[in-house]
Amino acid sequence: MKIAVIGAGNMGHQIAICAALSGFQVSCMDTNPDILNKAIAFANNYLKERVIKGKLSEKAANQARTNLAFVSDLEEAAKDADLVIEAIIEKLDIKRKLFADLDKICLAHTILTTNSSYIVSSKIADATNRPDKVCNMHFFNPALVMKCVEVVKGPHVSDETVEAVMAVAKKMSKTPVLLHKEIYGFLVNRLLQATRKEALNLLDMGVASFEDIDTAAKNGLGYPMGPFELLDLTGIDLAYHVGTEKYKETADLTDLPSPTIVEKFEKGEFGKKVGKGFYEYFNE
Ligand code: 3HC
Repeated sequence: MKIAVIGAGNMGHQIAICAALSGFQVSCMDTNPDILNKAIAFANNYLKERVIKGKLSEKAANQARTNLAFVSDLEEAAKDADLVIEAIIEKLDIKRKLFADLDKICLAHTILTTNSSYIVSSKIADATNRPDKVCNMHFFNPALVMKCVEVVKGPHVSDETVEAVMAVAKKMSKTPVLLHKEIYGFLVNRLLQATRKEALNLLDMGVASFEDIDTAAKNGLGYPMGPFELLDLTGIDLAYHVGTEKYKETADLTDLPSPTIVEKFEKGEFGKKVGKGFYEYFNE
């Protein structure tokens, strides 16, 4: 089976490596040469380090290298794919255009999925002539580590599509969960947003520093990471876009990105991937 991952950013490149390690043929595509080069460097380093760490055999690393191609052309990536996983920017109009293009490029049987954190596939499926084969397949950051994948069965999605997507997730050693209906934020982000919103609220009210709020979440609740560390990992730009898009939908002012998120977004302090968010990162 061949998988095309569209977008080699924060999520895309790790999804692609994970699929290649699981035996799929993978094309990971991005039009931005900087993002593509960063993804290639990460893949090379990751596979090398896994072997050094004793977590992967040299043979398995070489097989993953053979399975994985990074390309800059959409048609080259998607024309012979059986499954596409879109992991581009969280903007509905851009995703709709991409899915319309993919619908023309891909084979008739190809399933088109979106890794969107929030956008349900029924908002995208009608940009294609195969709505029954368009669904959400949502991974978590870091995608090489996190086991959960949310698969969402919108009203337009066929049982066959859901079964095929669940099977791919399982073959990637993930633990997929199935949502029987579409809902904004799915399961995990609805839970996460509740914590994140309150953490930003506490910070903006001057109740505690972001470091202490993180410490409280880790040591008081047993979270592996505090909400601000996690914002840095998943991307403050993503949080900004998600809040802005949600507000467009709900017109609820409390859905707008918090003042702190807006300030960091405007300064370009997007988090770990740029070396600075709430925390600073050196030699990443
Ligand atoms: N990329 C790839 N692998 C990574 C990684 C990364 N960025 N960070 C850590 N790892 C791997 C390490 O190599 C190590 O692998 P190994 O045990 O097989 O050798 C393993 O993860 C554990 O790493 P560490 O010991 O260095 O660090 P931790 O034990 O602190 O784990 C963590 C790091 C897995 C990131 C952990 O802190 C964690 O689970 N954090 C919470 C992450 C989370 O909540 N993610 C969901 C975000 S929400 C989301 O993605 C939604 C989306 O819509 C935005």
